[in-house]
Amino acid sequence: MFHAPRTVVTCSNVLIFNDGSKVTLVIKPLRKAVLPVAGLGTRFLPATKAMPKEMLTVVDKPLIQYAIDEARAAGIEEFCLITGRGKDSLIDYFDVAFELETTLRERNKQDALDALAPSTIEAGALIAVRQQEPLGLGHAIWCARSFIGDDPFAILLPDDLVKSDVACLKQLVETYNQTGGNVVAVTEVPREHTSRYGILKTGKDDGRVVEVTGLVEKPKPEEAPSNLSIIGRYVLTADVMPHLSKLERGAGGEVQLTDAMAKTIGHVPFHGLRYEGQRFDCGNKLGYLEAQIAMSIDRPDLGDSVRAFLKN
Ligand code: G1P
Repeated sequence: MFHAPRTVVTCSNVLIFNDGSKVTLVIKPLRKAVLPVAGLGTRFLPATKAMPKEMLTVVDKPLIQYAIDEARAAGIEEFCLITGRGKDSLIDYFDVAFELETTLRERNKQDALDALAPSTIEAGALIAVRQQEPLGLGHAIWCARSFIGDDPFAILLPDDLVKSDVACLKQLVETYNQTGGNVVAVTEVPREHTSRYGILKTGKDDGRVVEVTGLVEKPKPEEAPSNLSIIGRYVLTADVMPHLSKLERGAGGEVQLTDAMAKTIGHVPFHGLRYEGQRFDCGNKLGYLEAQIAMSIDRPDLGDSVRAFLKN
């Protein structure tokens, strides 16, 4: 769905619209993240029959832990998991494992305790909301409305694993702190893949940060306004929530986040960031295997052996 761009120029935190009106931009610090984890993971059956797909490990860390680590690196302090039935082990995972930790302490297993530490989220900093029906990503985010309130928030889709020197979400936050408004992580995809992603219609582009003038969810290659696709990292202001509340169905009969975001264009600054890093789509088998290799090659304890194995 396209929306007529109402040009927004940012100048020393003052937004100047093309009708001449001005608004002072308030950039609230980003502290909240929503992680949709209600998906059934059918592409990984039977592995995901009795285990959430977000608990699949890349080397020795579950996908959900990568997402939480990245969020923390970006300054996030409060987390909201959008879960579903059969996903309670994700909540257990972030709890204190009292017996395990006591045993490890008694046995002086400091390395194991250190490995465990990031998997505990401070009491009160994690909440879970159930998405009762699989009505799409937009519906999942709408389920977090009480958590979000009027605050800006990040969304991390744990299927997308990004390997980078600076955490991908941190890169988005740095851009958000300059531009305010909505910032999404984007990457170029082959034209024949546009029907898998949210695709940008682009305005001003400095090669890194690109103005978003329209958005369309999963367009056919011949209808795609560009080949710049959104990956699973977003920084959004609460302005998107009233649009989500309408629960309008879009592509695939689902409530699409992309459609609700498109309606904020012209009302809040909206940018795409070509992040630095490599993205792995761990929602499909090949992407997941590639992530295993890429992440293990970099590990001091495994890298040489993995490289030798691949060479043979
Ligand atoms: C979702 C979004 C899509 C985005 C993608 C990134 O699609 O709807 O706009 O490009 O995530 O991974 P899904 O992968 O849930 O089909």
